[in-house]
Amino acid sequence: MADKTFPLGIDVGGSGIKGAPVDLSRGEFAAERLRIDTPEHSTPQNVIDIIAGVAETFVAQSGDRPIGVTVPAVVTHGVVRTAANIDDSWIDADAAELLRERLGRPVTVLNDADAAGVAEMQFGAGRGVPGTVLLATLGTGIGTALFVDGVLVPNTEFGHVELDGHDAESRAANSARKTEDLSWDKWAERLHRYFSHLEGLLWPDLIIVGGGVSKKSEKFLDLLDLRSKIIPAQLQNDAGIIGAAYQAELDSSR
Ligand code: BGC
Repeated sequence: MADKTFPLGIDVGGSGIKGAPVDLSRGEFAAERLRIDTPEHSTPQNVIDIIAGVAETFVAQSGDRPIGVTVPAVVTHGVVRTAANIDDSWIDADAAELLRERLGRPVTVLNDADAAGVAEMQFGAGRGVPGTVLLATLGTGIGTALFVDGVLVPNTEFGHVELDGHDAESRAANSARKTEDLSWDKWAERLHRYFSHLEGLLWPDLIIVGGGVSKKSEKFLDLLDLRSKIIPAQLQNDAGIIGAAYQAELDSSR
């Protein structure tokens, strides 16, 4: 086993399950990330089997350090409560307890956007920013994380506010841009409607836009005319893994 061990972050998404040990002194992966396709039947049992495999792969780098796992769902006290973009059988599963039993290590399970937000606030675009900060991840769905003076208000689900009679994420997520083949301008109009609506509800000091598409922020962020400052995330697709590992380490030291 390596001299130095690191907590593990694992990000469970609709298409892939990704994990890496995380060096929290730098907010960076301590080894190359592993990605495995999410099984077609993505039940808790099938996904937990894959998570156990990822943990096994990194045992030399992570020893018995805590594991943080993100899911694209509301999670209260380790129990998954919704399933907008994952198998319905997750609802009411005590994911944290199931994983602890299986892995024999401290486990934290949290919402994917909350994990990404935690990472951005610690190591990325939100570092040291006081006041109200909203992170929105634009991917298959829209995930949100809300911070007040750096403290997370967990499980905000602002991706599901109603926008022009629709579930907002079905109009403004990056998946809507792709499936409807929207130009960047057209998609930016929808994002503008979406973020203006959220602004009126929350009056954030800063909005951070995350998800893989934040790499291409120059194509759409300048087209949004908002009252709040809006900037791209810095950790992009690594944020979930880094935030999960950070939160797991924090929880286990409490
Ligand atoms: C879910 C959220 C999740 C987001 C991003 C939404 O559909 O309701 O819990 O954070 O997708 O994956």
